[in-house]
Amino acid sequence: MQLIEEESSEIASSNRGPGRYAVFGQPIAHSLSPRIHAAFARQLSIAHDYRAIEASTEEFVGALAAFAESGGVGANVTLPLKQHAARLCLSISETARRADSVNTLVRRGEGWHGESTDGAGLIRDITGRQRLYVRGRRTLLLGAGGAARAVAFALLDAGIGELTIANRTAERADALADAIGQPERVHTRYWTDLGQWGGFDLVVNATSAGHANMSLALPTSLLASRAICYDLSYGKASFGFLAWARSAGAGHALDGLGMLVEQAAEAFEMWHGKRPETDAIYAELRAYLPGDAED
Ligand code: ATR
Repeated sequence: MQLIEEESSEIASSNRGPGRYAVFGQPIAHSLSPRIHAAFARQLSIAHDYRAIEASTEEFVGALAAFAESGGVGANVTLPLKQHAARLCLSISETARRADSVNTLVRRGEGWHGESTDGAGLIRDITGRQRLYVRGRRTLLLGAGGAARAVAFALLDAGIGELTIANRTAERADALADAIGQPERVHTRYWTDLGQWGGFDLVVNATSAGHANMSLALPTSLLASRAICYDLSYGKASFGFLAWARSAGAGHALDGLGMLVEQAAEAFEMWHGKRPETDAIYAELRAYLPGDAED
């Protein structure tokens, strides 16, 4: 376990609050979360000591215990630890249980309470920031790993129409559909057959292919007119999917930066009871990140 970064707000460093906060993951050095939380803390004049802590899956239990020992009262959890975090909690929310994923921890008594704010972050970004509707949209979810699971339920709760799940490994798509348990509304398709199933109004890329610089080789016939294409990742990892989306005629090709900022705001509100305004930090990070092919 290695504490690799300490980036707390000016307020926090001059006026240490009663609790400490952190984001755990591996790798974590390039996490934007400390910067986002520092901006929220400044905006709301809340002491918020938030740092990034690198921990592997093996190190996570010990790292989290040491963090609690040192006054840790809240944490974010990112790859590859979200499922591990769900197992470590004394209690978890219904949202986190369904997603089998915890990205936000809140100290309650002698243990951790787990929440998953990723799905809420995605919906807030699409409907709030982008001012697009999801209701009734025929939706394709690409991927069936942890990220896909975290957003699938939120999309359904937000009122999308039919949900089709396609995954490179078909069995994982079937397992996710089974876990959702709405056979009249949720279907799986073989990735290799996707060309036959066009006309999606919303396509969400929840695969990790972009992180490995791998192309998804999607057919251009997938999209209905004015479709929304959304990649849960941001920066370079999203460029391939977004380029495909534009070439396939998407009305909107969006990366996951807004979702990152919104899930952070959800966590901040859970910890401090006040909701930060997110537009300013979103704009700051948008300007700071490398642009994709169109910019
Ligand atoms: P995460 O927590 O980011 O979702 P994960 O649980 O390892 O990570 O899931 C990664 C997802 O990306 C899976 O759906 C994976 O497909 P498989 O289940 O077949 O492994 C998908 N994925 C990764 N690389 C891919 C690629 N090159 N093409 C298509 N799907 C890919």
